[in-house]
Amino acid sequence: MLKRALTSLFFFLLSAGLCASQTSSRDAEGHEWWQHAVFYEIYPRSFADSNNDGVGDLQGITSKMDYLHDLGVDAIWITPCFPSPQIDFGYDVSDYENIDPMYGTLADFDRMVEEGRKKGVHIILDFVLNHTSDQHAWFKDSASSRTAPHRDWYIWRDGRAPSQPPNNWISIFGGSAWKIDDKTGQYYYHFFYPEQPDLNWRNPAVEKAMFDVTRWWYRRGVSGFRLDAVDTLFEDPELHDNPTLPGANKYGDPNLENKYNTNLPELHDVLRQLRSVADESHAVLIGETWTSNIEQLKAYYGARSDELQMPMDFMFTTINKLDPAEFRRQAAAVDSAGGWPVYVIGNHDMVRSYNRYGDGFHNDQIAKLMAAFYLTLRGTPVMYYGEEIGMENNDPQRKEDVKDPIGKLGWPTEKGRDGERTPMQWKNELNAGFSKSAPWLPVPASYATHNVETDLKDPGSILNFYKRILALRHTNPALIEGAYIPLNQDDPNVLSYLRAYKGKAVLVALNMSSGAQKITFDLAQQGFSGAKLKPLAASEAEAVDSRVSLQPFGAFVGEVVK
Ligand code: NOJ
Repeated sequence: MLKRALTSLFFFLLSAGLCASQTSSRDAEGHEWWQHAVFYEIYPRSFADSNNDGVGDLQGITSKMDYLHDLGVDAIWITPCFPSPQIDFGYDVSDYENIDPMYGTLADFDRMVEEGRKKGVHIILDFVLNHTSDQHAWFKDSASSRTAPHRDWYIWRDGRAPSQPPNNWISIFGGSAWKIDDKTGQYYYHFFYPEQPDLNWRNPAVEKAMFDVTRWWYRRGVSGFRLDAVDTLFEDPELHDNPTLPGANKYGDPNLENKYNTNLPELHDVLRQLRSVADESHAVLIGETWTSNIEQLKAYYGARSDELQMPMDFMFTTINKLDPAEFRRQAAAVDSAGGWPVYVIGNHDMVRSYNRYGDGFHNDQIAKLMAAFYLTLRGTPVMYYGEEIGMENNDPQRKEDVKDPIGKLGWPTEKGRDGERTPMQWKNELNAGFSKSAPWLPVPASYATHNVETDLKDPGSILNFYKRILALRHTNPALIEGAYIPLNQDDPNVLSYLRAYKGKAVLVALNMSSGAQKITFDLAQQGFSGAKLKPLAASEAEAVDSRVSLQPFGAFVGEVVK
């Protein structure tokens, strides 16, 4: 835990004013703190409810700082907690420089930062930069008249004919991406809900205002931002129609290729500028970077490593089955992309990893297998709250229970994202110990067996396995700095690799099949001839000399001993 102790010392010096916030500390390999940190995403509505109103809050998060520290978390990314009408549960911001009263106050925020400092937990906020709420003062002014000072802060256009939107673009949440405003007779553009009008990033005043927002929070002690929906920042100014594709989407709209309204090259210029502002405070930028190939992912690091330090690799999450060949291919591609890899297996927009990878029979075991996998790769993991206790999706059963608007619109094909956003399961008590009032979303019945209190007492729990692996990540030099070296690349069942550093190595072997597997590792080629394996963490697996035996979905992490 030496590394964590040093991090805590750094925070202590920082809070004592002995260490300027401009100080950047790098390790012997030139790596910065975030390269060896474990990030943990918190959906604030659902983490911990301190005032028992059924919705989580900042004081709730602060009260769990010890839990986070003990788990092995170094940074929490909190999804938007700013004032918002909550149409998209915070991703519709009406004031970027405040806290929604539902979550508390700025003073609560400051206390959370302070508590994080004491425990070595950095705070990362979510920056929604593509759009604001339609209730933001900027948009209200913009919509007030065609000559309003903020008119050009959003994207307004005439219809192409009476009652016809300017072009064929559709919103990712269904329907046309244009909404007519009766007062001024023009349409405004919204990639997401109509209540989320897109900002006009071609306007320098927008750039300045938004860059200043990040400065404001850096001064308040945040260590970085997760940037929302970065690929949607720019649109073709000529508004070319998007090419149509066969079929219809789940909302009944024609399928389109989002050629003219996503991934425009101009967005990289904004990322470079955001990065230079972040560099003033040694902050880190994490990207919600949906990419379809490795070249796109590479581009987000910036040609001169001057854009995002941490673009998340979502291609990894699209591998929805335990397929060693697919994971091997993706891990190798990201590992050699030139930037620091960032791995994710779940978040608030996708079905929980417990269900996506689980086979319905071995889900707990598979949850440990996935932990042993993505938490031992070279790179930074971003966990999703509850993953460490095997939280499952709890999808609404009836349309009238759905809270997420896309679930209402697309029911029953699209049930919305409520299922993956349910309250954190703390105890086997009323409402899983999340709140004394009925929570905003119901907890699944599995809270009785999958909760923090119960799991902490069980040495074989998913939670204790996570703690073990996260502790290894923070202490074992090969897991901290080691190169990723794939092994046995033709094995269709077992994914295995080394993490090797300065003549030492850790071997990871993951049985992705439902049959038992035995492998004798010959590591001569990798410079470890005659090596034996000493277990560091294992689940349904053991090693004798260089032979690893894995039960169905068994996971083995062991030191290579010469
Ligand atoms: C991505 C966020 O993760 C998602 O939850 C949100 O609905 C959209 N961006 C719009 O901000």
